[in-house]
Amino acid sequence: MISSQIQTASYLFAGILFILSLGALSSQESAKRGVLYGIIGMGIAVLSTVLGEGVQGQIYIVIAIAIASIIGLLLARKVEMTSMPQLVAILHSFVGLAAVLVGFGSYLDPETQAMVGTAHTIHLVEVFIGIFIGGITFTGSIIAWGKLEGKIRSKPLIYTGRHIVNIILVLICVVSGFMFATGQGPDGMIHLYVMTGISFFIGIMMVMAIGGADMPVVVSMLNSYSGWAAAAAGFMLGNDLLIITGALVGSSGAILSIIMCEAMNRSFLSVIFGGFGSAPTGEAMAVEGEVTAINHEEVAELLNNAKSVIIIPGYGMAVAKAQFPVHEMVNRLKKQGKIVRFGIHPVAGRLPGHMNVLLAEANVPYDIVLEMDEINDDLPTTDIVLVIGANDIVNPGAQTDPNSPIYGMPVIEAWNATDVIVMKRSMATGYAGVQNPLFFKDNTSMLYGDAKASVDSINSYLD
Ligand code: TAP
Repeated sequence: MISSQIQTASYLFAGILFILSLGALSSQESAKRGVLYGIIGMGIAVLSTVLGEGVQGQIYIVIAIAIASIIGLLLARKVEMTSMPQLVAILHSFVGLAAVLVGFGSYLDPETQAMVGTAHTIHLVEVFIGIFIGGITFTGSIIAWGKLEGKIRSKPLIYTGRHIVNIILVLICVVSGFMFATGQGPDGMIHLYVMTGISFFIGIMMVMAIGGADMPVVVSMLNSYSGWAAAAAGFMLGNDLLIITGALVGSSGAILSIIMCEAMNRSFLSVIFGGFGSAPTGEAMAVEGEVTAINHEEVAELLNNAKSVIIIPGYGMAVAKAQFPVHEMVNRLKKQGKIVRFGIHPVAGRLPGHMNVLLAEANVPYDIVLEMDEINDDLPTTDIVLVIGANDIVNPGAQTDPNSPIYGMPVIEAWNATDVIVMKRSMATGYAGVQNPLFFKDNTSMLYGDAKASVDSINSYLD
């Protein structure tokens, strides 16, 4: 057992470690340190909570933590890097569900039921809001998991009048919340059941209405919601650290969502309200031109003769784990005196910074890894662009086809280079499910096959 003073001091220390962790996570060089700060902070937080005054049945808590840690460890070891967003989404759903359960538990707790006056009213408001946010986070995250896992189709499910329905449901919750907090109307539990059902429904419909191309924002937005749900649980439990941690997650998730919306040229509000006014209505433009295939030897020949090369990696590079042979290719081309750089799209892959993590894993130097805005102007003076397992992020339709679901999203303008080589296994579409006119351009050649096998083969033909 530790005293409440020691607990407060530990919470403060853990809070500082969480802030340091977030700061360090903002750059690749210090990210490992950031993770370590986070682990230590969380260790201190859990220990000082379990050992705190008034906590009973520690043995059960330790058993629960041990079981959950084993499951978590096994899952994290097994999960592929490409399935990380799904794992994150499902973990967010746990936070949401936890907030709902804490809300009900806290409402039924005899100690809080015995509260009177303003303190009681404030507590009831905390319970109501906590369950509402938790409910949306819970079902919204499950739908996001389903969409990312391919179990639910990524096309937005939109029905006429859905915003009106949502507004009416929220208004019902506001009225019910007022009655709940002021002790009017039916039994408090009835208010909670109705509101929980509504929040589950809103969570489902909100994420169902969001299309594939906006999923990155949804994942970070649910991350933000899970933070606010945790903060709400912190208020209900009177746990300062949970409030601090929840607020950190909530605000950093919101900032990340805004940054991603800017990168994708989407309005933040339109994404969080389920594609408000952003769904294209007409038919997508027909794609013109012929597809030209190329073989590995021919690609190697083009590379041997080029002066400047830009590599644009995407989700397929992650699937194929091609980052290692790609690094070897870069080394060999650099030895030949060529200028080789990477162009990274902000939503390439399936999670923020996905490509940067993979390239760092393969020890690609950071100084040749450039962002989309830094590389786009250099493309017209580049001899060869190698598009490795990328699709949506190099789709010219985002600039030319107002009916494309990704219209308006900034893309890497690969087509401006002299020659474009696209490495993928087939003519299949990318995550947003739209055809890519880049593949049909005169200066584009398709190199079919698994990205790793293709790069290995090209390497064997390089000078
Ligand atoms: P995508 O548009 O999904 O295209 C990836 C391409 O990789 C596919 O067309 C696929 O074509 C190819 N591929 C798959 N496995 C391969 C393999 N083993 N070898 C070679 N190619 C392979 O990826 P992108 O260009 O990186 O764009 C990202 C998309 O995901 C965007 O729409 C973005 O909005 C969305 N998204 C992003 C995030 C974040 S935060 N980054 C999160 C969720 C969704 P084949 O099947 O023909 O091989």
